[in-house]
Amino acid sequence: MEYALVNGEIIGRSEAKIDVEDRGYQFGDGVYEVIRVYNGKLFTAGDHLKRLVKSADSIGISLPYTIQQLTEMIEELLSKNNLETGNIYMQVTRGVAPRNHVFPAGNVPPTLVAYTIRAVRPLDNLKIGVKTILTEDIRWLRCDIKSLNLLANLMAKQKASERGCFEAIQHRGQDVTEGSSSNIFIVKDGTVITHESNNLILKGITKDVILDLCGKNNIPVIERTFTVAELDEAEEVFLSSTTAEVTPIIEINGTKVNEGVPGPITKKLQNLFEKEIEKQCGVLVR
Ligand code: PDD
Repeated sequence: MEYALVNGEIIGRSEAKIDVEDRGYQFGDGVYEVIRVYNGKLFTAGDHLKRLVKSADSIGISLPYTIQQLTEMIEELLSKNNLETGNIYMQVTRGVAPRNHVFPAGNVPPTLVAYTIRAVRPLDNLKIGVKTILTEDIRWLRCDIKSLNLLANLMAKQKASERGCFEAIQHRGQDVTEGSSSNIFIVKDGTVITHESNNLILKGITKDVILDLCGKNNIPVIERTFTVAELDEAEEVFLSSTTAEVTPIIEINGTKVNEGVPGPITKKLQNLFEKEIEKQCGVLVR
């Protein structure tokens, strides 16, 4: 039997119910996180939970649990579900109230839901790399909030999928922002470049681990906006996310990157990232 966490209680997943007027269901009025689990252990969970609280705060939802309580609840959930390798999906909405665009008055409690997803590491993608397309970024101007509203991201990802690609790299005019569900990095003259964490992208937890690893291992790195032209000319390109780790990009709009093979800096960062996972979670399946 699979379990889910609903408003602080762990119950059978099939018993979990959402009210038709839950504002997350109705308006996408909420925020979420995806946390990776390796060998039954949480990876960078503290950072994800802090971002969840920050996302919630920025739309005026105050979570009735501390980070410590949230950690304990998801640890219990993964242990009850015997999750070895996979993800925890967690979302918080503004709760249940009669439909109205205005936020409900009074003390409407937020709805908190979490469940587990079994998912092995994407070993082929990590080794071979993935193909991508470029697409205009049509999202709003608060992409730093990990909002449930993912329609523009879904449309970009669907477009990529229909063209046999794994990810859509988004750009606003000439500036590359991020993937539909990942951060994007290029290597230019041996320097790793990725968009600065501002309102136009999500400040990825994986991105921050990579920046830290670059700093500690003398890999030149800079956070700045880069253009589509720089992307086209890059020596290497890769993406990062909780589920995709450090994935090489070997093709963009049908044109090969680095002759279609993962580059040396990408491979080095993959290696360092795996070691970081192993520090927190034990030996990985490679
Ligand atoms: N997505 N940018 C966007 C738009 C994302 O949706 C994600 C992650 C990232 C990478 O963030 P992180 O390294 O913290 O996972 C960047 C998750 C995995 C998802 O929606 O499934």
